[in-house]
Amino acid sequence: MKKVLITLFVCLAVFIGCTNDKDELLNPFNGDCTGVNASFANDVLPIIQANCQGCHGAGSTNGPGALTNYDQIKNAAARIKNAVVSGYMPKDAGPLPAAEIRKIRCWVDSGTPNN
Ligand code: HEC
Repeated sequence: MKKVLITLFVCLAVFIGCTNDKDELLNPFNGDCTGVNASFANDVLPIIQANCQGCHGAGSTNGPGALTNYDQIKNAAARIKNAVVSGYMPKDAGPLPAAEIRKIRCWVDSGTPNN
């Protein structure tokens, strides 16, 4: 009887563990942008203003330099996506919250629209 209970418990633990893993995979990092309407003006720019411009303001020579307007951010989009998804940026404070990473990622993947 004891063995049956232990087996049941182990099965349950494994099952719950897998469900959680799956949830995490389904969350922001699977690249699925369905239903994510990422806007440059409403999402991307405010996130960058709040988290990046301390080091990537006007005249910055850090990495891609200043990230203060659409052209600068569009030109650095692929590098921004990599740096934010990997958590490398914001430097010493990353990663950003998952929802913000998702917005940036989906905005870049949708072709960096000026929307
Ligand atoms: C505390 C200062 C600081 C903050 C905040 C910061 N950065 Fe950086 N960033 C740097 C420095 C310094 C470099 C260049 C040296 C390096 O790559 O570590 C850099 C490099 C980069 C690079 C180039 C990485 C590469 O090698 O391709 C990108 C892209 C970037 N930053 C984007 C961002 C974005 C987007 C944010 C906000 C989410 C951000 N950074 C926030 C300081 C910062």
